[in-house]
Amino acid sequence: MKTFSATRALSFSAAIGQCLAATTQGIPGSIYNRLVEMATISQAAYADLCNIPATITTVEKIYNAQTDINGWVLRDDSRQEIIIVFRGTGSDTNLQLDTNYTLAPFDSLPKCVGCAVHGGYYLGWISVQDQVESLVQKQATQYPEYTLTVTGHSLGASMAAITAGQLSAIYDHVRLYTFGEPRTGNLAYASYMNENFEAASPETTRFFRVTHADDGIPNLPPTEQGYVHSGIEYWSGEPHSAYSTFVCTGSEVQCCEVQGGQGVNDAHVTYFGMASGACTW
Ligand SMILES: *[C@@H]1O[C@H](CO)[C@@H](O)[C@H](O)[C@H]1NC(C)=O
Repeated sequence: MKTFSATRALSFSAAIGQCLAATTQGIPGSIYNRLVEMATISQAAYADLCNIPATITTVEKIYNAQTDINGWVLRDDSRQEIIIVFRGTGSDTNLQLDTNYTLAPFDSLPKCVGCAVHGGYYLGWISVQDQVESLVQKQATQYPEYTLTVTGHSLGASMAAITAGQLSAIYDHVRLYTFGEPRTGNLAYASYMNENFEAASPETTRFFRVTHADDGIPNLPPTEQGYVHSGIEYWSGEPHSAYSTFVCTGSEVQCCEVQGGQGVNDAHVTYFGMASGACTW
């Protein structure tokens, strides 16, 4: 297991700050297909995992009644992969989490020094932490050579990010794919995520933060309240294709965010032509 020091976190965030924003157009087909597969699972999570790829089997449901957090542990034996997916907002109870912008100390992960995350989603995470950790441990013990991947859309994206951050303290090489992710934490959290998921460059990153057109949710909660994004942004344009996907690294406000979308809009609910829960794929 890697050790982590606060000094390293600070120098890393300083290095990121110095990086100039860079945007490149076009991604390899293999990465594009992977983003589409994870988007399919994330959008299917709104409708009991309708039409997910046939190689994927459902292991167990994740659920808490108080927070109405829903998710699944899945397994893809063809890829030797354990996948956790969280559903996005599906109820008024979820909406109460969405709108709670109070930054909460990331107390469940003390090695993330100075880290704070979205208060509503932190309550969501705490409500399912025991379930997630024991389900993953069972699978990881039974399939020790499998890798671990976490994904989700919207509220599910932030849940995925917090979960992946937590699990990356236990498991190596956790991968994270988020779609329409709100800003999930403060600068210390973002630096921790970028370091743990090697997100300094698209060559190494295991944190793919996928955005779409002028999706307004990545503009919330506001930066003025101490929130920043992490991961490498993969900005999907229309018509969606590998060629119309941009890789955006470096500074905070570019690509999706500068389009100026605010809140839930058409671009938020549809990724790669798939609308949340529509099952038309
Ligand atoms: C908002 O989140 C914070 C931090 O998780 C929590 O302490 C507080 O109770 C939440 N507020 C509501 C109204 O749920």
